[in-house]
Amino acid sequence: MSLLILGIESSCDETGVALVETPASGLPRLLAHALHSQIDMHQAYGGVVPELASRDHIRRVLPLMEDVFAQAGRRRAEVDVVAFTRGPGLAGALLVGAGLACALGAALGKPVLGVHHLEGHLLSPFLSADAPEFPFVALLVSGGHTQLMRVDGVGQYQLLGETIDDAAGEAFDKSAKLLGLGYPGGPALSRLAEQGDAKAFALPRPLLHSGDLDFSFAGLKTAVLTQAKKLGDQLDARRADLAASTQAAIVEVLVKKTLKALQHTGLQRVVVAGGVGANALLRAQLNAACTQQRVRVHYPELHLCTDNGAMIAMAAAMRLQCGREVPAPLYAFDVKPRWPLDSLA
Ligand code: KG4
Ligand code: ZN
Repeated sequence: MSLLILGIESSCDETGVALVETPASGLPRLLAHALHSQIDMHQAYGGVVPELASRDHIRRVLPLMEDVFAQAGRRRAEVDVVAFTRGPGLAGALLVGAGLACALGAALGKPVLGVHHLEGHLLSPFLSADAPEFPFVALLVSGGHTQLMRVDGVGQYQLLGETIDDAAGEAFDKSAKLLGLGYPGGPALSRLAEQGDAKAFALPRPLLHSGDLDFSFAGLKTAVLTQAKKLGDQLDARRADLAASTQAAIVEVLVKKTLKALQHTGLQRVVVAGGVGANALLRAQLNAACTQQRVRVHYPELHLCTDNGAMIAMAAAMRLQCGREVPAPLYAFDVKPRWPLDSLA
């Protein structure tokens, strides 16, 4: 039986809504999705202001939902399951999506499913033309998380390693701020890096040879700050070189640790997910390294790397398809701002 699933994402600074349909067999199909990014609004503050984020989600989410139904030519009453991001994320922002999902579910008499945001990122490559197959190593690199997981199926996630301090996205964002670039820093820093020399500054590669699969990026930001101070008046002329050197340091650690995870698990497939997965240097270096080792790499479509509703609807659809979770009518506002991915079953 095919199911129509509405997905709602509101965990941070993007409001996303999407409709996915699960066929009787085969992968779920994205029918429509709509997104509103709050980047312009938060830019003036240099980062996400949680209260402003919540208020903006409230303003945007209903028009986005109407847009998605119009695009797909479907009606609300046809929805079989309402999925929303239950966590992790900003509590107030999460509550907006949870509130709409629960209200809609109750009004339609349909079940509501609370999706793990990182599971959404993790499964988002299944929406691409080059969908992966289980099992694989996942490199999850978002603004708040940096994790290597062994993934054997939906809900079968084994944490192999993670950051002990800042996430890779945070390293991009914080270094970008030190270089006087806007928020979010990742795209801005990587654009500037294109004009710089990645070998100009020898920045640290923390935990590169630690023997485990953990990451640490907090020291890198300090090294960037020290280098910027040392440059003094010269910083302006060397900004692109410093950006390129920073990006090279982050990417080298991500690529080498991913290769280590492949060695450790013996797996031949990698899935990269989360906002930093949009980084062109990361893609180029990981592709080159994996081609050499005959490992397949899969990414989400570029526009689905950062937060969106499609990945939330998709994760719900894949959970339902493999019978991992039959959604009970859950009309309770119990969002989980902190929620480890490997606690899922
Ligand atoms: O997955 P995401 O949209 O949100 C979270 O769940 O955190 O990831 C956002 C992060 C930000 O840190 C942003 O700077 C980073 O992804 N990012 C990038 C690029 N695009 C987004 N980092 C490096 N290069 C990019 N092209
Ligand atoms: Zn995210």
